[in-house]
Amino acid sequence: MNKNFYKSKKFVAKTLYGLENILARELEKLGAEKINILNRAVEFEGTKDLMYRANISLRTALRILVPVTNFKFQNTKEFYTRAKKIDWLDYIKPNQTFAIDSVVNSKLFKHNKYPALKLKDAIVDKIRDITAKRPDVNTENPDIKIHLHIQNNFAKIYLDSSGESLHMRGYRLEGAAAPLNEALAAGMILLTGWKGDTDFIDPMCGSGTLVAEAAMIAKNLPPNLYRNHFGFMKWDDFDKELFTKIKKELSGKVRNPGITIYGSDVSAKAIEVARKNIARAKLENDVILEVKDFTEVNKTGERGIIVTNPPYGTRIKNKNLIQLYKSFGDILKKKFDGYEAWILSGDKTAIKNIGLRTSKKLTLYNGPIECKFHKFELYKGSRKTKNKIESLS
Ligand SMILES: C[S@@+](CC[C@H](N)C(=O)[O-])C[C@H]1O[C@@H](n2cnc3c(N)ncnc32)[C@H](O)[C@@H]1O
Repeated sequence: MNKNFYKSKKFVAKTLYGLENILARELEKLGAEKINILNRAVEFEGTKDLMYRANISLRTALRILVPVTNFKFQNTKEFYTRAKKIDWLDYIKPNQTFAIDSVVNSKLFKHNKYPALKLKDAIVDKIRDITAKRPDVNTENPDIKIHLHIQNNFAKIYLDSSGESLHMRGYRLEGAAAPLNEALAAGMILLTGWKGDTDFIDPMCGSGTLVAEAAMIAKNLPPNLYRNHFGFMKWDDFDKELFTKIKKELSGKVRNPGITIYGSDVSAKAIEVARKNIARAKLENDVILEVKDFTEVNKTGERGIIVTNPPYGTRIKNKNLIQLYKSFGDILKKKFDGYEAWILSGDKTAIKNIGLRTSKKLTLYNGPIECKFHKFELYKGSRKTKNKIESLS
């Protein structure tokens, strides 16, 4: 590794739309400095120790990038020349494979994929000129992952310390209908402000993503504590001792939350998948799962939160979507007074039928689908009555 690599101490954590502030808060807790919120990303400063911790612990990050260099260029030829000037042997050995992931927003290239091809040529040519050997590209499972970002005539090149995206915690191998991205699920829960101290219910839990992420938050269990592959493990400066020490320290902080985390779904197949996922996440003692229609679900305790993602047409066909939301609203009103309910839905019409007053509405994206994340506060009677009672007491 180039000796100046960590000198700037700068990192960039990528995330999903709407989770930037939550990610910044997570980074602050880890001890990151000079935190700067960007669009779907957060810049910060720290050490190699922090980079390892960030990869293991951040719930809402997708990847942690480390800057290699940045430069201006006037045309494709200059881009190649500048890219070839980089001491690529510091980062990639001729017997290693690599892949380039790029985000390009520039009129200087005819195709958005072209800069990544040019960068690949520059890397291969540079290493071949020096060693007479060439590293191979492997897009599936590369040893070294490079991230290229081009805005007009400005290129930024990073090493990707995460490798595979951090939302791939490793517990969800089984495909179920329309599962949430794990980082999105964790972000939704953190956005509610829930701290793992009251019961948590997802009555349409599908493959169990929300209950799995809730259990990990409540247990103070880092989402990637059990993951044994990160991009930085293939770097020549990988400090195994430090990595093991951090994992041991974080394992020692896992706690037993003493609350109920409950997931149910009308589909027996979905619950079968959820059970396998929960077991793989080693959370079988922390999450209760049942096959149940949501109309049959009851409070698990006096105080609690419901976070759920009902079907919404685009990804799951449901003929009676309007009726489903209406009946879900009725159940919330009837059975869950004293609870908070947060619902993620991509169907603006269907969610109106819930018949409850929204007290907060946030925008998130489930893949390409723009969704609203609604908060409902559930009281006995109407909000008006509650306010009256409070003002009299
Ligand atoms: C969008 S999916 C939830 C995906 C889940 N968040 C995940 O990450 O896997 C909606 C779920 O609602 C369930 N569902 C639909 N109608 C239901 C009902 N009446 N009672 C309980 N679950 C229902 C479906 O079986 C489906 O699993």
